[in-house]
Amino acid sequence: MTLQIIVGAQWGDEGKGRIVDWFAASSDYVARYNGGDNAGHSVTVGKNLFKLHLIPSGIIQKNAIAILGNGMVINPASLLEEMEMLRAHGIIVNPSRLRISYGAHVILPSHQALDKALDTARGKDNIGTTGKGIGPAYTDKAVRRGIRMIDLLSPDLPTKLGSLTNQINDQLIQLHAEPLDPEKVISKFLEYQAILSPYIADTSLELSKAFNDGKSILAEGAQGTLLDIDHGTYPFVTSSNVTATGVFPGLGLGLNAAQNAIVTGVCKSFQTRVGSGPFPTEVFGAEAERLRGTGANPWDEFGTTTGRARRVGWLDGVLLNYSARINGLTELIITKMDILTGLEKINYCLAYKKGATQFTDLVNGPSDLNGYEPIYDQLVGWDQDLGSIRKWAELPKAAQDYVRAISDHTRLPVKMVCVGPERDQVVLVN
Ligand code: IMP
Repeated sequence: MTLQIIVGAQWGDEGKGRIVDWFAASSDYVARYNGGDNAGHSVTVGKNLFKLHLIPSGIIQKNAIAILGNGMVINPASLLEEMEMLRAHGIIVNPSRLRISYGAHVILPSHQALDKALDTARGKDNIGTTGKGIGPAYTDKAVRRGIRMIDLLSPDLPTKLGSLTNQINDQLIQLHAEPLDPEKVISKFLEYQAILSPYIADTSLELSKAFNDGKSILAEGAQGTLLDIDHGTYPFVTSSNVTATGVFPGLGLGLNAAQNAIVTGVCKSFQTRVGSGPFPTEVFGAEAERLRGTGANPWDEFGTTTGRARRVGWLDGVLLNYSARINGLTELIITKMDILTGLEKINYCLAYKKGATQFTDLVNGPSDLNGYEPIYDQLVGWDQDLGSIRKWAELPKAAQDYVRAISDHTRLPVKMVCVGPERDQVVLVN
């Protein structure tokens, strides 16, 4: 009987996809509990690079059953595209391997249009959303006019779609954006209805029974802690509960499943962020280009979903400790250690300074980071290529010291470090 929650400890893009893939090899279920196709989870298996946005990356493993939980917002067009992509790679995607919660909300084309129109209207204060309709779909959930997966099973679907599309059209017109034709939306959704209906299920019931029967459940978080609607850098956040406790409402699991849960925080060896918002350890110029890469490699710091260049900086231990607390992390995994190879010095932010005062904790949460300057511990770098190393003892001492420094500062065990993008390029820490 285990629940393991994989959660991003930063601003997303920590490399959760390949970590989920790793643990899914020994899990009965892999379940996503939040967000939608704003997420981009990459897994490299041999020559294949899988870019997943909705379906938990655990589906690439042969046995785990993939669940899209009720806490998600799902764009059926993206889901079907992803199912086809997986099938083209020989992965079985049918209702015996993939189940969608009846309670998950549906993203309509008008949600996407509204997302873009709203962010454009914010002008220089824009959030830099992914434009996937996430915010508007969660808004409609909250104002209780949203369409859920269960509605795809109902003969009332066309009426509901027409009514919601018309209501959002009013908002689009006010924002000087193009309204959508409800009839076109309805005819597309009737196609989706025919294909997706067999996948819709009571996944809360299934997961709860599985847990009680001693099966293992791997919960896959999307985005990262600092993008959480309640605990992130509000308003520069996404619209869902990203953090580990989001698993319970987002999958319909009871708190009995929390006992002895493993909460794995995934964090990069440095820090990145896409879109606007505070970032105390951000670097610019040549230093940033070095951490970001040129975009020539799939692992360079350019968005999987949007292709945007990510902002980059040094690992922020103050925010990492915040993340550890908010999530109740029990362990850490550090990804992309190989990217630091060749740096003479590596900075790790231990505290902030404002005026003459030092802060090791955030004063009013992560939204208010203006004026806080990072205080760095400067560690020695290493030159050795890490890509072929598989044993802790073979890592250069400087790399071991960096991992120990993070572990000491967060008071968390580091379970694993990643030394390259391939599935097996990992080192278990001992
Ligand atoms: P939204 O989720 O599209 O509404 O975007 C809100 C903010 O979250 C923007 O700054 C996005 O760049 C960011 N964001 C959303 N999803 C991800 C993700 O999976 N990785 C990194 N940033 C994300």
